[in-house]
Amino acid sequence: MEKPVNLILVIFGATGDLNSRKLVPSLFSLMNQDLLPERFVLLGVGRGEMTSGDFRDKMAEAIRKYTEDREQDMSHILDFVKNVEYHRLDYNKVSDYVDLGHKLTKVRNESGIGGNIIFYMATPPNMYETICTDLSEAGLTDQAEGFRRIIIEKPFGYDLESAKRLNTVLHRLMDEDQIFRIDHYLGKETVQNLMVTRFANGIFEPLWNRNYVHRIEITSAESMGVEDRGGYYDSAGALRDMVQNHLLQMVGLTAMEPPSSLDPDAIRNEVLKVFQSLQPIREEDVEKNVIRGQYIASKIRGECVMGYRQEKGVDLNSRTETFVAMKFFINNWRWGGVPFYVRSGKRLPTRVTEVVIHFKQTPHHLFQRVVGKLAGNQLIIRIQPDEGILLKFDMKEPGAGFIVKNVNMDFHYKDLADVRVPSAYERLLYDVMIGDSTLFSRDDEVETAWKFIDPIQKAWKNNPDIKIYGYPAGTWGPEPTNELIEGEGLTWRYPCKNMADEELYCEL
Ligand code: BG6
Repeated sequence: MEKPVNLILVIFGATGDLNSRKLVPSLFSLMNQDLLPERFVLLGVGRGEMTSGDFRDKMAEAIRKYTEDREQDMSHILDFVKNVEYHRLDYNKVSDYVDLGHKLTKVRNESGIGGNIIFYMATPPNMYETICTDLSEAGLTDQAEGFRRIIIEKPFGYDLESAKRLNTVLHRLMDEDQIFRIDHYLGKETVQNLMVTRFANGIFEPLWNRNYVHRIEITSAESMGVEDRGGYYDSAGALRDMVQNHLLQMVGLTAMEPPSSLDPDAIRNEVLKVFQSLQPIREEDVEKNVIRGQYIASKIRGECVMGYRQEKGVDLNSRTETFVAMKFFINNWRWGGVPFYVRSGKRLPTRVTEVVIHFKQTPHHLFQRVVGKLAGNQLIIRIQPDEGILLKFDMKEPGAGFIVKNVNMDFHYKDLADVRVPSAYERLLYDVMIGDSTLFSRDDEVETAWKFIDPIQKAWKNNPDIKIYGYPAGTWGPEPTNELIEGEGLTWRYPCKNMADEELYCEL
């Protein structure tokens, strides 16, 4: 793989959780694979007073604590932190950005790195505009001496209007190809594999349309609560936090037309077309098509689990949703009339993300009388954990008559013993370094996704009568979620860790 050119990576919000949990362990892993630039400096920027030495110790600790891949060679931690520095900055003080410029010149001179700099916004989202503007005013986004790129964490905006405003501000300061809007789901191997499954195999694509697909279901469930992010989450909620970005991107890759090439814009154009074809959910239809819930205290395996409103940083009367399930359609030639069901929530029974393609039944049920209801065919693309693909189909049970049984054809990434699945951030950080924007959201994609989400947010805001259901932590969300799926005997798929074991349904 190509080694990136020498550069400095400046991370704003460097003392925060994202940097410790995800960014630094991913950079360390890139170093272990010899995929960091020959000369590389990580300059952490934060509001707190801290020496570079203390910051290095903190980052070394973070690598030890949060490196998930136990095969990583931990003896290289000291080599990694040698290239780590810290700089204090008050985000609202323009003169501090001039000082940052001086610091960067010093780092460049000492390290022999040319003028290439990447700025990563890992701060609270309300700081993005200020930081980018002040960086530009201090001349730090000027590309005369090397490239300047900006990575913006999600959420990109709060609604359509704020996303547009942020895009306008960014475009005033730099070109679209300098802006990398991160959606870490796009960095997941299995999300990218959605495209490979569809477009590298001749057998799926002919069936991938309204003639053969009955419905599509996308679930992203988390067993954890909001942890220590209550403050942020309470102003976001599941719709903004997960659906507007991660889930809609998965919808895009599942539903898009084949791109003409692997060129970043060829792929993003196709995803954009899907977003443009989303049938708007009108404010008056929100109650019927979108179910929201909030977890309440319960016992999970004998242990008491607090409710959302008791979490740190959360308003005692909060009406923020920790669960969303919705039904919508994509108005285009391929998907006309096929319902898409999407749900995401915290404190559900397990952590699992999957895309389920439910195929239509055969036109004539030859065997139905023998076995009752046939389970039919499903293709389940498991995004995480236990990444893989499962195809369910009916087979004759050996013996007299025609007893039909639904069986599994199951592929697990982990069976490819010599293949390591890189973390999403590892992949995305590397891509920014080499300037590949394929897996980043473009301005128009983000805005079009918000356009679809906005009426839902408005309906919830304007109509307090729309219910927010409580669901006990550890269950699959509020009961009315099931009513979204229309059709006799049809329900959501209730996935469990062991996909092969269909008996392991989680009870509500
Ligand atoms: C983040 C959300 O973008 O994605 C979090 O802000 C969520 O609330 C996380 O927990 C889920 O990511 P993953 O990779 O664990 O599925």
